[in-house]
Amino acid sequence: MRVAVLTGAGISAESGIPTFRDEGGLWKNLDPKVLATPTAFERNPALVWEWYLQRRSIIAKAKPNAGHLGLVELEQELGENFFLITQNVDGLHQRAGSRRLVELHGNIWKVKCLSCDASYEDYSTESAQLPPRCRECGGLIRPAVVWFGEPLPADALETAYRWAQNCDLFVCIGTSGEVYPAAHLPYVAKEAGAQVVEINPKETKLSPLADLCIREPATKGVQELLKMI
Ligand code: APR
Repeated sequence: MRVAVLTGAGISAESGIPTFRDEGGLWKNLDPKVLATPTAFERNPALVWEWYLQRRSIIAKAKPNAGHLGLVELEQELGENFFLITQNVDGLHQRAGSRRLVELHGNIWKVKCLSCDASYEDYSTESAQLPPRCRECGGLIRPAVVWFGEPLPADALETAYRWAQNCDLFVCIGTSGEVYPAAHLPYVAKEAGAQVVEINPKETKLSPLADLCIREPATKGVQELLKMI
C-alpha cells in the first residue's frame, strides 16, 4: 500500500510550537503581511529577522513528539511505499528521523543571500547584528522559507503532486487546509482514487473530503493510524 502524508503546524503543536490559525496561533496576534511577505522583508528586514530568530529559539527548545516519531516508524515499515510532504519549516520531522520527505514551504534553519545567492544552514537563534549578514559576501540574507505570494520550490511541489496522484492512502495531519497549493494535494489524491484520512482534533475545510476523520491530536492519531495500516 502506497501512503502519502501531508503535515501542517498541528503536528508540532504538542512539541510546544504555536500553530498559525488556532486560538493563540501566530496569525491571531501577528499580521502575516507585516512578517511573512517579500514586501515586509524589503520594508523592514530587521523586524522580520527578529521574528524568525524568536521562532527559531522556540523550535530549538522543542522536541519531536510521538506524532513525528510515529511517522518515522511508518516510513521504516513501508520504505519506498511511504512519502511525507510537510508544510512545516521547523525541521522536526528530520530531527525525529524522517528521510523520505519534501518541505513545501522551506526550512527555518536555512538562509539565502540576496546578493551572492549563497544558500546554507544557519542554526543561530540570535544575531549580533540585525538583519544578519551573509557569511560569504556580507550581503543581506533571508530565511529560506516560502512567504505569501512566493512560488513553492518546484521540485518539492512536483514530487508532492506525483505522490498525491500515485498513492492508495493520503493522510492529512494537523493542517487547516487553508493554504494552496498544499491544500490542493488531498483533492488530487482523492481524484486519483486514494482513500483520504484526516488526523486533527478539529473539523477543517478538508474534513468533508476525508473518508475517515480521526478527531485526535497527532500524538494519539498517528498511533491509531499505525494500528490501521
Ligand atoms: N494535533 C493535530 N492537529 C492539531 C493539533 C494537534 N495537537 N493542534 C492543532 N491542530 C490543528 C488545528 O486544528 C488546525 O487545523 O492544526 C491545524 C493548524 O492549522 P494552521 O495553523 O492553519 O497551520 P497549517 O495548516 O500548517 O498552515 C499552512 O499557512 O501560514 C502558512 O506557511 C504557513 O505552512 C503554513 C501554512
